[in-house]
Amino acid sequence: MSSASRQSPGIFITLEGGEGSGKTTQARRLCAYLTAQGLNVLRTREPGGTLLAERVRTLLLNHSKETVAPETEALLILAARRQHVEHVIKPALAQGKTVVCDRFSDSTMAYQGYGRGLDLRTLRMMNDWATGKLVPHLTLVFDVPVPVGLQRRRGQGTTQNRLDREAERFHKNVRAGFHALAKKEPRRIMVIDASSSLESVEREVRYCITNWLKAYRSPKPHRR
Ligand code: TMP
Repeated sequence: MSSASRQSPGIFITLEGGEGSGKTTQARRLCAYLTAQGLNVLRTREPGGTLLAERVRTLLLNHSKETVAPETEALLILAARRQHVEHVIKPALAQGKTVVCDRFSDSTMAYQGYGRGLDLRTLRMMNDWATGKLVPHLTLVFDVPVPVGLQRRRGQGTTQNRLDREAERFHKNVRAGFHALAKKEPRRIMVIDASSSLESVEREVRYCITNWLKAYRSPKPHRR
């Protein structure tokens, strides 16, 4: 695995979670916090983050009369990701910025892999190809029971996108996917209980980030 740390001076943080997990609000608050700590922060999102990738996002999330094959969905997401990595994320990391991205590769594994049932190994291989094996330094998964998340989403009054409307079973598989990914990579992925109030989740995020940054910045013991 090639992590962002070996490729650039910047820090790459991703926020993940199911629908209605509150991660977008937390992303905004986290960026304000990190900026106040003196970091040069870039907030971005997936699918999206460049003009072309935002157009792919619209294609993906809008309802369509034409059924979208899971493979088509994955390929569009990966195409958008390549564009985003190449033109936004990698240059920002090279400049020493802290990139906070609302969703990244773990969403593909969770949604297209565990949710849609695409082969995980193939998906991982294709994702590695699309990202040039760029892996976040830290990933926070905002975890909320599916009925709570979907209820919140409906309560937000925003129009439901194509994926929001999937069956509860699909969202449960996605959630189980995030849990499985966190279990496989416990050093990179932290799961945050996002079922409480925005303020208490924000406190938890700050606590995790502060400790993580301390450990990240502390001099590493010299290895022979
Ligand atoms: P959101 O960013 O507002 O949560 O919406 C993005 C939607 O796109 C969400 O339903 C999850 C989906 N998605 C995937 O299915 N796979 C991916 O790799 C990414 C980044 C997003």
